[in-house]
Amino acid sequence: MKIFVNGKEVEINENERNLLEALKNVGIEIPNLCYLSETSIYGACRMCLVELDGQITTSCTLKPYEGMRIKTSTPEIYEIRRGILELILASHNRDCTTCDRNGSCKLQRYAEEFGIRRVRFQNIEKPAVKDDSSPIIRDNSKCILCGDCIRVCEEVQGVGVIEFAGRGFNSQVATAFDTPLGKTECVFCGQCVANCPTGALTMKNDVDELYRALESEKIVVGMIAPAVRAAIQEELGMNEDLALAERLAAFLRTIGFSKVFDVSFAADLVAYEEAHEFYERLKNNERLPQFTSCCPAWVKFVEQFYPEYIDNLSTVKSPQQALGAIVKKIYSRKLGVNPDDIFLVSFMPCTAKKFESEREEHKGDVDLVLTTKELAQVIKSSGVNLKKMTPEPFDRPYGISSQGGLAFGKAGGVLGCVVSVLDEEIGVVKEEVREINKGVNLVEIELKDGTSFKALGIFGLGNAKDILENIDDKDISIIEVMACNFGCVGGGGQPYPNDSSVRKQRAKILKDTVGIKTLLTPVENYYMIKLYQEDLKDEKLKHEVLHTNYKPRRRVEETEFEILPVPDEDKIKVKVCLGTSCYSKGSYNILEKVVDYVKKEDMEGKIEVVGTFCTENCGASPNVVVNDKLISDATFEKVLKELEKNVKR
Ligand code: SF4
Ligand code: SF4
Ligand code: SF4
Ligand code: FES
Repeated sequence: MKIFVNGKEVEINENERNLLEALKNVGIEIPNLCYLSETSIYGACRMCLVELDGQITTSCTLKPYEGMRIKTSTPEIYEIRRGILELILASHNRDCTTCDRNGSCKLQRYAEEFGIRRVRFQNIEKPAVKDDSSPIIRDNSKCILCGDCIRVCEEVQGVGVIEFAGRGFNSQVATAFDTPLGKTECVFCGQCVANCPTGALTMKNDVDELYRALESEKIVVGMIAPAVRAAIQEELGMNEDLALAERLAAFLRTIGFSKVFDVSFAADLVAYEEAHEFYERLKNNERLPQFTSCCPAWVKFVEQFYPEYIDNLSTVKSPQQALGAIVKKIYSRKLGVNPDDIFLVSFMPCTAKKFESEREEHKGDVDLVLTTKELAQVIKSSGVNLKKMTPEPFDRPYGISSQGGLAFGKAGGVLGCVVSVLDEEIGVVKEEVREINKGVNLVEIELKDGTSFKALGIFGLGNAKDILENIDDKDISIIEVMACNFGCVGGGGQPYPNDSSVRKQRAKILKDTVGIKTLLTPVENYYMIKLYQEDLKDEKLKHEVLHTNYKPRRRVEETEFEILPVPDEDKIKVKVCLGTSCYSKGSYNILEKVVDYVKKEDMEGKIEVVGTFCTENCGASPNVVVNDKLISDATFEKVLKELEKNVKR
């Protein structure tokens, strides 16, 4: 399609989503602060202005058409954009030097590009309110209300734990009832962090803890995940480097690590164990489809939203936790030291991995999880030029992996590796892969023993949710789910920007790195087989080291809280849901009216009012329960009608 941009003819792709994307694809980046290609279009920041036929309009909401004539930069547009930036900055906490996003913040970048040196408007900075109850840190004083986090959480991840609350200057991103994020149904995937343009959402930084460990008497051992080596060069100004993992191993030794292992080794082990678990389930037709359980955000998602599927989760631990248990329970014995004398540091692309290592059942195995960004900080602050480090191999015995194990870092990797084990051990005669939706691949497999089954490879929890709610194909026997788009290469702990184009590039780098490995499948991994033969002979120990269990998890820690309590048994109970969905649709307003009504009608001893966080009916929110009756799409009038039926005057 031909359009005219600033008087010049430009060829753009047909069917572009909007003018903003079309121009980006031909190398013209229009400033924007509320646009994400993976979510619905919000159109609120008004930074993406263009001039069309003399009218100024937003390019993110504009569909290109043949022959359209636009101007992308006029004195008027320049002035409007500067004005918008100044308005945002007037209510913004401008603590750039101590901000986690210093150097990678979009607002900071635009302020620099538009030469903002003073703000003409009165400074009405919002107070810094920090929520550090989880690996995700929230600070609304740096929020520009772009809504990106809300749309990602709701539309891409299907979680919907944050929403806009309040009006005008008091508008802010909030959880229901301002519950700390760590106590909500947030799965800590960090996708809100990955997409936030400012420092309002960041991840917990635990680098100081690493230095404390290095200073102690402990034996500090490291392990590096596949996706870390595909992304860290972005932070260090390096080009694609297929020996990056080995340079990282060398670097960690120079700062005091005793050993550096490869998480891909554990990925081989996990895939091997999971393939056997799957074949057993397939033969016995039980607990199918089997769900992979390497992604802790996905596991938490199942535990709290789909407890009926908990038995479908593979009981095999994730590579991080499997290697953690091996190091603490087996390797410590080999070294002849107390497990507590080892301090195990895991380098991950993922914010949810910090949460995983703290789970009750895993506590103590992995002592510290640092993200790719935190590892980059350690390297940068050391002054070491990683490019100049001579690559050194990972330490034996947990430093060798196959192509399959290394591929865990991108979507489809776990499934591919499990299938490669089945191929070695039983034989795969047919394998067909087809994309049925963005982020959902269907694989049809036929084994030599005559068994055939279907598998799904999914990224994005929203996609997983759609599949779980509509799963009717009984032949689907195994499902891989990775919470982050494109898999762990797009994890919440990866460098900024962390968008689709960078994620695809990281997946390509990982694929190239996989390609130079000589071992094809876990079955060829001599060290893994040796581990089984020598150290995991005892079934009980093997189970303890490699397997775990999951149980249903409440979405929100507190389920009910009293607002107007009534001790009597003989009472009418009104339960108002204040979960995210209900709250955002006005349940708090209903609650206030109910409380006013009870007080005004002098019913305080007769009507009990409580708040709750879930009525399992989010599709028809707001929800209110009067005694046992659930009122969907509730209004105060509907609640009142039900109350009046029950009240004995
Ligand atoms: S970490 Fe994930 S689940 Fe939690 S608020 Fe962010 S996007 Fe939502
Ligand atoms: S927290 Fe970040 S992503 Fe969310 S609305 Fe604020 S600035 Fe936007
Ligand atoms: S997909 Fe990977 S990076 Fe994302 S939450 Fe899951 S384990 Fe972490
Ligand atoms: S990016 Fe278009 S209005 Fe914000």
